[in-house]
Parts: sequence; structure tokens; C-alpha cells
Amino acid sequence: MGTKSVDDLQRQLQETEALATSAIEGASTTAELAAVKQDFLGKGSALTKIQSQLGGLDPSDRKAAGQAVNASRSGIEAIFGRRLTTVADEERGVQLAAERIDLTEVSTVNDQPSGHAHIVTQAWEELEDVFVGMGFRVAEGPEAETDWHNFDALNIPPDHPARDGFDTIYVQHGEPRSTLLRTHTSPVQIRAMLAQEPPIYIIAPGRVFRQDTADATHMPVFHQLEGLVIDRNISLADLAGTIEAFTESYFGAGFSSRLRPNHFPFTEPSAEFDIQRPDGSWLELGGCGMVHPNVLRAGGVDPEEWSAFAFGFGIDRLALLKFGIDDLRELFTNDMRFLQQF
Ligand code: PHE
Repeated sequence: MGTKSVDDLQRQLQETEALATSAIEGASTTAELAAVKQDFLGKGSALTKIQSQLGGLDPSDRKAAGQAVNASRSGIEAIFGRRLTTVADEERGVQLAAERIDLTEVSTVNDQPSGHAHIVTQAWEELEDVFVGMGFRVAEGPEAETDWHNFDALNIPPDHPARDGFDTIYVQHGEPRSTLLRTHTSPVQIRAMLAQEPPIYIIAPGRVFRQDTADATHMPVFHQLEGLVIDRNISLADLAGTIEAFTESYFGAGFSSRLRPNHFPFTEPSAEFDIQRPDGSWLELGGCGMVHPNVLRAGGVDPEEWSAFAFGFGIDRLALLKFGIDDLRELFTNDMRFLQQF
């Protein structure tokens, strides 16, 4: 630079500021702004060059010149900072608009302000209410269960043919075939007996698993509700009465129940229970019976002193029945047009 006068320097600074200002205002993205910053405030910038010339000035002018350069730098930085805030806000706005998920989609269709529980959850909760109203407590057990709780303790020893009927899904944990996804809620009977002294009045709703192909009446993952009553002098009549009372209470008038002889290793005698719809047709709902003495013993309960009944049925099937749905798979495809009807 030829001239070393302060006036010249001021002129150069003004030019630089003007250029910087228009470049900053012209930048419309944060990336462009970063480049502009490099050009006007970075190492190779005009401002940095001007600064390096201060040494060539008259010593008496150096201080004022230095202050002028600093003032220019601060001015440019301030303009830059304001512009950056604006541009970054705009970019964020655009991004948020692009990423926005329309959560109102479902509720506006139906003009409802919010969703509701799934049919199975509704049935589950209603059943808990019905049974709690009858004096039962709600118990729980793990979904990954030991082979012992799921089978042996329920009077199904290792080579028992009943094991085949359960299409068990085993879990790789511990000894081979020692851990499984429970095939029914009945292992909660054992856990309840081991955890407390009789009398016991519990229900245990929960998820169960079987190696099944999905069809209108089967799913590989489904829900059962187990019931267990242990007290003195419990009879088959108590079992039948309990099932009838629950049927009426859950389904309302017009529905009734019946027991048909059946076989389960963990109950003796055993029965299947069906529910009759108001149109007269029957639906097989679950199994029940007087708890086998071997099962009571496995749970540490003396069969000479206590007697017990148990029942277990599919919650999902019950929901189908209540809502008049004819295909179990409908419950789990999660088609909103279907689900929001219930
Ligand atoms: N656990 C049986 C099943 O899943 C149902 C059942 C429960 C039968 C309790 C009798 C007593 O098929």
C-alpha cells in the first residue's frame, strides 16, 4: 500500500466496512455467512492487511489508526452477529417445518381431542375391574419363565405329551430348554402360591407366547387372564358360579356360560368353558378345573387342608366377542380406521 496517511487508512476502512456489510446482508445461509466471515474478518482479510500496515505509520498517528481499525472490526462483527442470529433462526424454522409431524391427523378425522386405549387394553382393564369387584387381587409373573414354573410345577413333566401342544418358544439362557417365553399365564399360579399363604384369590392377566401361525383365531403373541382361588372347601360349584358371575358382569345380560369336560394336566377334573352369545352361538373361551394336588404341592400348599380352582382364558378372544369382531388379526394390524371404531 502506497500511502501511509491516517486519512487514507480511514478511507480504506470505510470501503472495507461497506463491502463487508453488503456481503453480510447478502448472505442467506449460515454456510455463506461463515465464508463471508472468513473473507472480512479472517487471516487473509483486508482488515488484517490494514492492521499489518500500522507499523509503517507515523508513531504519533499509530494509536488513532489502531483504534480506527479496531472500531471497524467491532462494527463488522456486530453486523455479522445480528445477521447470523436472523439467518440461523430462519434455517431452524425451515428445518422444524420440514420435520414437523402432524399429530392432529388422527383426532381431526373423528373430531375427537385425543385417542383411546386399544381394545385389548380396554378389555384387560375392564376384566381387572370385574374381578377386583368380586374380591380378587391382581398378580403378575415374568414373561420369560422357567421351564419348571411353566411346565413341571404344573404337573407336566419333561416327556409329557401336553408339552407338544404348547408350541413353546425357548430362550437361549442357562441350560438348554430351561428358559422359555411363557406359553400360558398358569405359571403365575405357582408364583402366587410360593409368595403367599392361602387363602388366595388372584387373577393374573398378561402376555403369552406360542409358535403359532397367525390366523383368524390365533396369534403367536396373545393375552390370557388366569384366575386362582385357594381356600377351604372350594368346590366345582364355586368355579362354575365364578365363571357365570364374571360372564354376566363383563358381557351383560344375554350372555351365559357352560362348562364342558376336558383335560389339563394341572386340573382334575378339568373343563373347557364356552360363552353363549345372545344369538345362541357358542364360543370356546378357556380352560378351568380343580387344581391338581401335585400342583398345590409344587406351590407348597397342602392339598389335604386346602382346595382350589383355576381358570385361564384369552383376553383377545373375549374382546372379539364383546365387540363383534370376527378376525383376531384385525386387533394387531393397527389400522387406525379399524381401531378408532372401538
Ligand atoms: N393354561 C391353560 C391354557 O393355556 C388354561 C387353563 C388355566 C386351564 C387354568 C385350566 C386351568 O390352555
